[in-house]
Amino acid sequence: MKNILVTGAAGFIGCNFVRHLLQQEPPVTVVSFDALTYAGREQNLTPLPSANRHEFIRGDIGDGALVQRVLRDHQIETIVHFAAESHVDRSILGPGQFVQTNIVGTFSLLEACRAVRRPPSAVRFHHISTDEVFGSLHAQEPAFTEKTPYAPRSPYSASKAASDHLVRAYAHTYGLPVTLTNCSNNYGPYQFPEKLIPLIILNAIAGKPLPVYGDGLQVRDWLYVEDHCEAIWQVLQNGKLGETYNVGGENQPTNLEIVKSICALLDELHPQSPTTPHEKLITSVTDRPGHDRRYAMDITKIRRELGWRPQYTLATGLRKTVQWYLAHLDWVAAISSQGNYQQWVDKNYAQRSAPTEGKS
Ligand code: NAD
Ligand code: TYD
Repeated sequence: MKNILVTGAAGFIGCNFVRHLLQQEPPVTVVSFDALTYAGREQNLTPLPSANRHEFIRGDIGDGALVQRVLRDHQIETIVHFAAESHVDRSILGPGQFVQTNIVGTFSLLEACRAVRRPPSAVRFHHISTDEVFGSLHAQEPAFTEKTPYAPRSPYSASKAASDHLVRAYAHTYGLPVTLTNCSNNYGPYQFPEKLIPLIILNAIAGKPLPVYGDGLQVRDWLYVEDHCEAIWQVLQNGKLGETYNVGGENQPTNLEIVKSICALLDELHPQSPTTPHEKLITSVTDRPGHDRRYAMDITKIRRELGWRPQYTLATGLRKTVQWYLAHLDWVAAISSQGNYQQWVDKNYAQRSAPTEGKS
């Protein structure tokens, strides 16, 4: 596993994973491959540890000829496939790009692997998926296992489910050596501020409303991104080919609890905000259409077979995350100045801005 190609490397989890890879022993070389959509920034990959073992290539996973050339020229042995459209709200407003990137793009990448295969060796393909493919749980239902039937309910999760099926089909039909991980909601440094945790941190310090969709009692399982990166690394080293591993953070707060925890951290770490206590900014807004109520991951398999478990609690991970954003307001400012980002924020908030029941 000397030469690794990471797709979507300029996005949130991808850039954290590239850093994680470059710190491993024995050393690996990493090619980061990313189309730099609104969510990807090449600057997310600077500075890097051991940057001499890293190369960035701007490209689209749908460009089969380019991908094949990269696989051959760099003698890639392993692909870790993160590249995707990743935001549920965007998939509701415009599902087409999700079908194109997540399904057709993954298909194209798999075809490139098939084309460059030199039996008996083939490019190892590790696919990053999500707990959202399993659908939504009621309060008392047990957590998702690797055997839970797929039941995706948003255009995003349906497109991820389709890509998972393609990956498994290529393993079964063409013998491609694959592994998959389905992870829960990630949080941590470099997450694009359209997602709940960074959005709440940044709105709070700007004195803007903190939009909580519906009653705020939806439940997510939160995984600190460093824990996720280590889980993937364990699967790459010791995972069984053809297998899927669930990865989660072993916590299940409601969205409202998460938002209140962030507010409390900011009261302590950023008392100079225009509005304090920050909780005063919490605003209940119109719910997301088809909003999944609860996700929860059973991580027994990866714990038992690979000895992985999360090292961060929600409290330690959230504190690190809030501290990171407060220390990187220049990173935030660079994103906020992208015209298309501000347009998106305004459009999404306008859709939900009629408060349903005033402040929580
Ligand atoms: P992100 O939106 O932050 O980054 C996605 C990256 O993919 C961006 O850098 C973007 O430029 C790149 N990309 C998009 N289309 C591309 C294309 N056609 N060719 C090449 N690059 C392209 O996403 P993320 O949050 O880092 O998620 C990474 C992966 O993890 C995705 O597959 C996502 O479905 C999965 N996942 C994420 C979470 C989460 O909580 N963030 C949870 C479960 C699974
Ligand atoms: P998000 O970060 O978009 O991830 P996902 O939809 O993939 O779980 O949202 C996490 C949860 O937070 C989800 O239940 C929707 C909710 N949410 C809000 O209440 N307000 C917001 O502004 C956002 C972005 C999300």
